[in-house]
Amino acid sequence: MGKVIAIANQKGGVGKTTSAVNLSACLAAAEKQTLLVDFDPQANSTSGLGIPQPKQGMHIYYSLLALRPIDEIVLPTALKFLKLVPSARDLIGAEVELIEVQGREYLLKRALNPIRHLYEFILIDCPPSLGLLTVNALVASDSVLIPLQCEYYALEGISSLLVLPVISPSW
Ligand SMILES: Nc1ncnc2c1ncn2[C@@H]1O[C@H](COP(=O)(O)OP(=O)(O)OP(=O)(O)O)[C@@H](O)[C@H]1O
Ligand SMILES: [Mg+2]
Repeated sequence: MGKVIAIANQKGGVGKTTSAVNLSACLAAAEKQTLLVDFDPQANSTSGLGIPQPKQGMHIYYSLLALRPIDEIVLPTALKFLKLVPSARDLIGAEVELIEVQGREYLLKRALNPIRHLYEFILIDCPPSLGLLTVNALVASDSVLIPLQCEYYALEGISSLLVLPVISPSW
């Protein structure tokens, strides 16, 4: 079963996407079957891997809402061992649309389950927030990688990230 790693930090611009793209490319270059899941509505990992705009209905938002099986949206990349689950701006709507859905924090985990066994590593590039998307990524993951800039406010941010389950008891 593949190891799922979320790359998360609610601070923006700390290197989440850069780490996700480069780490997944390194793993693929080492011939490890790797899947990069772009879980940020900014879709920087998607464009970073050479997909300017996924086709309508063919990105993670649709699989998160169980409208399309995830294996149908997985895209090949320039690297043989690296595949991409693309994102798009629509994903931003999920935060609001899922607010009443029971078990909404398990949706990404459920979406990834059918393809987990196909990959040695699944990396999830998270958005810069502590909202429902990041919670979904953390629930779906075995571990979390937190890129960080060495400054005081960054440490305050880490404290918020580490107590996330405590500050969100309804999740
Ligand atoms: N190790 C690094 N050293 C210097 N600059 C870096 C490093 N990693 C990333 N950068 C630069 O920092 C900027 C932000 O990086 P990136 O987009 O990966 O951050 P991010 O955390 O994904 O941002 P966001 O929160 O908006 O998703 C980019 O210009 C990138 O080139
Ligand atoms: Mg990013």
